[in-house]
Amino acid sequence: MRKYYQFAFTILLIFGLLASCSQGEKKYRIGVSQCSDDIWRNKQNSELQIGAYFHDNVELRFAAAYDSDERQIQQIDSLVKTGIDLLIVAPNQVSTISPAIDRAYDKGIPVIVFERKTNTKKYTAYMGADNYEMGHLMGEYVATRLSERGRIIEVMGLKGSSPAIERHNGFRKAIAQHPGIQVVATLQGDWTEPTAYNTVKQWLKQNKDAGKIDLVFGMNDRTAMGARKAFEEAGGALPLFCGIDGLPGENGGIKLVQDSLLDASYIYPTHGDQLVQLAVDILEGRPYPKETKLMSALVTQENARVLLMESDEIMRQSHNLEQLHEKASQYLDQLGNQRTLIFVALAAIFLLLALLVGIYMYYLQRARIQDERTQMEHEQLDFYTQVSHDLRTPLTLIQGPLDQLLRTDDFSHASDQARELFFIVRRNTHRLTALINKMLDAQVGTIDPKMTSEQVDAITVSQPIAAPDAVTEQDEDAPTVLIVDDNADIRAYLHAILQDKYRVLEAEDGKRGLDLAREHVPDLIVSDVMMPVMNGLEFCQQVKKDIISSHIPVILLTARALDEHQIEGYASGADAYITKPFSPELLLARIHNLLLSRHQLKDLWGTKPATKLAAAPPTPTVEDTPAPIEDAFIARFKKMVEERLAESKLSIEDLAADMGLSRVQLYRKVKALTGCTPVDLLRKARLSQAQKLLQETTLSVSEVAYQVGFASPSYFTKCYKDEFGTVPGETRKTN
Ligand code: FRU
Repeated sequence: MRKYYQFAFTILLIFGLLASCSQGEKKYRIGVSQCSDDIWRNKQNSELQIGAYFHDNVELRFAAAYDSDERQIQQIDSLVKTGIDLLIVAPNQVSTISPAIDRAYDKGIPVIVFERKTNTKKYTAYMGADNYEMGHLMGEYVATRLSERGRIIEVMGLKGSSPAIERHNGFRKAIAQHPGIQVVATLQGDWTEPTAYNTVKQWLKQNKDAGKIDLVFGMNDRTAMGARKAFEEAGGALPLFCGIDGLPGENGGIKLVQDSLLDASYIYPTHGDQLVQLAVDILEGRPYPKETKLMSALVTQENARVLLMESDEIMRQSHNLEQLHEKASQYLDQLGNQRTLIFVALAAIFLLLALLVGIYMYYLQRARIQDERTQMEHEQLDFYTQVSHDLRTPLTLIQGPLDQLLRTDDFSHASDQARELFFIVRRNTHRLTALINKMLDAQVGTIDPKMTSEQVDAITVSQPIAAPDAVTEQDEDAPTVLIVDDNADIRAYLHAILQDKYRVLEAEDGKRGLDLAREHVPDLIVSDVMMPVMNGLEFCQQVKKDIISSHIPVILLTARALDEHQIEGYASGADAYITKPFSPELLLARIHNLLLSRHQLKDLWGTKPATKLAAAPPTPTVEDTPAPIEDAFIARFKKMVEERLAESKLSIEDLAADMGLSRVQLYRKVKALTGCTPVDLLRKARLSQAQKLLQETTLSVSEVAYQVGFASPSYFTKCYKDEFGTVPGETRKTN
């Protein structure tokens, strides 16, 4: 049982693990450290997020440093602490952030440096546009735009940040090729609009006489717009403004160019989704490029409209994508819930089944224990039954003869002392019987040791001593009783009791008893139950099964005193049950009544048979009702007689042979069931048929006599008169 529960628990554990495993694909945590927070970074972050949607197992953790080195260093360290699997970093400045990047890299975390560069070699991959080239192309554009002649101001990005350095280098390299272009001032910005505004405003204030400025190159669009604001405030003719970033959307650089607020911009690619793909490739061990250069393009008045349309379209599509993702994740959530629900339901069903099986096994075990107990009780009972049988038999042989002795004349002449001694013996055999009965009733011999001798006497069946019957001569026609018992003393004792009234046959076991019953067809059988070869119950069954003996009443005489033994006995077909030690009177009375009740004689052909036994009122018993087997026998016999009664030479042997019996068997069976001999019945059948013919036909008396099997009409007339009290001629006349 315990093993079963261990098994059930293990299965449940597997369910649990399956349920948790189903959610359990490894998640990649990617830290994104942004140097600042602006519309360019926002665009990139949302692209990163979309990129993550394509991978179920990617989780992004964002941090923005707001252009502060210290903050970015601290953010990188804490991202590493939370246990990220990969770091994407856009370092604020080239050298300042490197120590934090190194620390992450040294911990085995892959690092992707994005868009801005660092001076450390400790990174896994780099992705970004070529800022030098961008600056260079912008320089070329400016020279062309100003037709090689003009005065310009350059407003730089954050000092120390790589795009600012590279864009400046490229720009100046290109401008140097055009001697007509003069860089009037190079001002320091920090990528933000307010700083650019303030710086330019300051310069304009200090250089009121600087003369006409033809173009301002701000290193990003916000810087260019800050400069423009300062110029607008200062009044006068406005120069052209060029920037970099070329973002889509309402406030993006492309729109500014289209609206002529900026003269040109340069698309600085964000490509967040591509960045996530690179990260996943690294994490999943796929080959990846160490350096990825992102392509970009110039935005001018000519292409601004087309670019804006395209970027709007892209934005629209990515918005759709967002919505689709939201829907998909809703469905996934539902799916997850359903899966959990299914697992819970399965686990519940399993638990229920396990419980049912457990209960079933428990009951099986209990039933087994109960069976074993019943078996033990049976064995115990058999033991006690055997013991009590062994005790009862000698007791019967003491008690019975003693009772007989007490009834004799000799005893009435015995001295008082002798009589007293006899009574003591008799009383104590009865007490012993009571004790044995009590012991069997208790089944396991729990006799109350405190029971007084009076109490024992009280449960003793008092058996009055009656005067002996005066039957001395045995009648030739006396009924036959078959005694079946393996104990020779008991047989002898029973013989002694019965011999005055009955003819007695003896058999030492059921098998021999069966042979005698078939051969002699006795009127009654008294049988023991516990016998070798064939026990009394089986013997009784066989007797009742056989058509020859089925009518014979059987009394089971046994030490098996318990109710259930008696029930067993009746089930085998026994007609009565008497327990040892028994009173001879009780036995004789039972035999007498059974024989009487057997003579419920049948008037087969409307004539009145004479009963041989005295008509004492019969004891009503179940066996009074004729069994179907008996009815069928009589019906067959009657039919056979009626078919053959015309044969004058018909003998009882012929009829017996037709019935498959011997002459004796037919005689005894018919006699027992009808009270008449077969010869009597044949004659009655003939006379009854004759009476019918005389009444219903015009046949002569002689013809009738011959027709019903009489060889001589005069003998027919005699028999007819004996039976009906009138001669056949009278019957004809009255007819
Ligand atoms: C965004 C930004 C852009 C610029 C880039 C340079 O934070 O300032 O405007 O082009 O960074 O790294």
